[in-house]
Amino acid sequence: MPGPILHVLGARPNFMKAAPVVRALQGRGLEQMVVHTGQHYDERMSDIFFRQLALPKPDVNLGVGSGSHAEQTAAIMVGLEKLMLDREPSLVIVYGDVNSTVGAALVASKLHIPLCHVEAGLRSFDMTMPEEVNRRLTDQLCDLLLVTSPEAVGHLAREGVAADRIHFVGNPMIDTLLGNLDRFDVEATRADLGLGEDYLVVTMHRPANVDDPDKVRLLVEAFTELSRRTEVVLPLHPRGRARFEAAGLKSSPTLHVVEPLGYLEFMALVRGASAVLTDSGGIQEESTVLGVPCLTVRPNTERPITITHGTNRLIEPEDILPAVGAVLGAGRDASERLGKDGLLPSRVPPLWDGRAGERIADVVQEWLAARGVQPRS
Ligand code: UD1
Repeated sequence: MPGPILHVLGARPNFMKAAPVVRALQGRGLEQMVVHTGQHYDERMSDIFFRQLALPKPDVNLGVGSGSHAEQTAAIMVGLEKLMLDREPSLVIVYGDVNSTVGAALVASKLHIPLCHVEAGLRSFDMTMPEEVNRRLTDQLCDLLLVTSPEAVGHLAREGVAADRIHFVGNPMIDTLLGNLDRFDVEATRADLGLGEDYLVVTMHRPANVDDPDKVRLLVEAFTELSRRTEVVLPLHPRGRARFEAAGLKSSPTLHVVEPLGYLEFMALVRGASAVLTDSGGIQEESTVLGVPCLTVRPNTERPITITHGTNRLIEPEDILPAVGAVLGAGRDASERLGKDGLLPSRVPPLWDGRAGERIADVVQEWLAARGVQPRS
């Protein structure tokens, strides 16, 4: 009997990518197992996403928790090695670029278990980012590389990945976005948070932004100044909390510093926002589809399609005030916003159409069938 397809999830951005893939494969009669490494463990960083996205409760939670990169990745690897030896999966599927992704990839590859990467081939070309290290190494080890954006195919080809391993399938995170549009209740979320009609959403958690106290001070000054011009809502990732608080970040009537939000509440906030100021990867993509202006506080992006096709712009921390001022001054082009009927704005990237999960299931099913793994009849 061939073993199950093993999905390895660990951190918040994995969950919205995996949900449509798990669901599509459920319809194919293939045995699957969901493993949560426990890299993220707070209710608001993990459990709420499983409930809201109807992800099956993990079959196993390794409970690795936080630590240095080496500690966390090592704990992920030790836990997964035991599990993979025990369950002998027919295929391991990993998502995105977090430590759980690369940990799982190393284990599967050394056990000669076939490996599939969803969101392969993105490159920031910035090796100071842990995510860039994670995605480059993962891609080198994969049998199946599933790509969300056309330029990723070129990156992989230049790194010597054989063309028959690469499949351009579209973006499963956008499946989750489009599939939940009707559940994003902008008014209810605004009311819950005490927000008026015009507001800016801010998220900031990357080491490059939140680990340097000088930069954090600059950011706090910018957020405070912004809140004199418009309402600001800032769901705070646990990573930066202590440094932001030490630098004097606190709520005021127009600066709402709140706990991390669930998927539905956060996306409702973004949908109704005048603009988003962020250093997240996923939000660059989600704001592109929602047609909400996005200012990304980073020197580079692994998602350039959100600039060429979408609403994204890269800015330096020093440029936050003029950049936000310009965006708010320009107003929103209503025609570019996603309609309630689910019609996409004209410039959405190719195959970000809500059907990536099914295409991924097609590729996986065919790949397994060619190796003798058939659905249960
Ligand atoms: C991880 C990913 C990053 C992703 C982010 C999304 C890596 C290297 N980074 O970063 O790419 O953008 O997730 O959220 O995998 N913490 C909690 N509760 C939790 C989880 C974390 O309090 O449930 C705190 C701990 O203090 C921990 C810190 O956040 O040390 C960082 O967590 P970690 O998983 O190491 O990385 P993230 O910054 O969350």
